[in-house]
Amino acid sequence: METSLSSNHPMRQAEVLGWLMEIRPQQMEALWSRADEVRQRHVGNAVHLRGLVEISNHCVRSCGYCGISHHNRHLPRYRMDAREILECARLAAELEFGTVVLQAGEDYGLTREFVTQVVRQIRAETPLAITLSLGERPEEDLESWREAGADRYLLRFETSDPVLYERIHPSLPGRKSDRFALLARLREMGYEIGSGVMVGIPGQSYDGLARDILRFGQLDLDMIGVGPFIPHPDTPLGDLRSPEVERDQVPASEDMTYRVLALARLVCPEANIPSTTALATLNRETGRELGLTRGANVIMPNLTPAPYRALYEIYPGKACLSETSDQDAQGIGGRLRALGRPSGRGPGTRRRAHA
Ligand code: 5AD
Repeated sequence: METSLSSNHPMRQAEVLGWLMEIRPQQMEALWSRADEVRQRHVGNAVHLRGLVEISNHCVRSCGYCGISHHNRHLPRYRMDAREILECARLAAELEFGTVVLQAGEDYGLTREFVTQVVRQIRAETPLAITLSLGERPEEDLESWREAGADRYLLRFETSDPVLYERIHPSLPGRKSDRFALLARLREMGYEIGSGVMVGIPGQSYDGLARDILRFGQLDLDMIGVGPFIPHPDTPLGDLRSPEVERDQVPASEDMTYRVLALARLVCPEANIPSTTALATLNRETGRELGLTRGANVIMPNLTPAPYRALYEIYPGKACLSETSDQDAQGIGGRLRALGRPSGRGPGTRRRAHA
């Protein structure tokens, strides 16, 4: 079908699918420039920097794609203490980032009280916005953290196909995993909510991915994280040659990731969208920059202390591994200047045109 970019009507399934399958280079150029224009008009030229701190690699989950899954017995586990986390937050503030993101596996060793205290302390000592990405925690935990001053929560739904979801992300015994319900609760609690998917997860069809993208719009996400699936050898989905991979399989490619980024920008014009480390891992030279010119407006420099960072191996070869925290940050500053995109000031909260 002919894909039109000029009109302002909401995108439909067939149109999104058309873009995922488009092969004409000229059409692709039109998609990139449209995403860039929409990004410019709705969120401006500033690139917000969010300092990512991977505070624990313990996890109770057994997700088939993830290298820090409970099932990975080869991996040494760590959990940062409050002092170490605070140090990273101070570094984020010194580097003039607007936000610190505390991410971990779903780790109940990070107790409700511990995280509440850490959030309070960051709030008291720094001007940073605080984003949490700690998995599917009970509502009481999420409420306590919100009251302590956490602003945002990231929880990718990974796929909107319930059968594929259960296959790659098994529920815990007696507790059905429902990330859509949890995202709705997080919003009611007053969090800004972020979600997203991996591109090219085994079993992902073009039709399914198009549905995922439309779902971003239906959820009116404040933040959208998308990156390519990168197989990890110590996981069940580590071997891409598995017989489950069929003809309709979406490739976990750089090109497909840009398409999803650009379409995410079109369905959620106001969202904060990072150019992710997973994307930079596929193309270390220009991946981050290309993401920023095809819809993204956020970078998440990794501030995790180096020895821990190497152990937060959700996928192999993470682009941030060879860089130290400060170099990483400074390197990004220079690259942004070269792109003509200023670094964002302040927390970089989602701005709504019609509040
Ligand atoms: N490749 C790419 N992304 C991954 N994630 C987890 N494992 C992988 C992988 N092998 C993503 C998931 C998760 C986020 C924190 O990292 O989407 O939500």
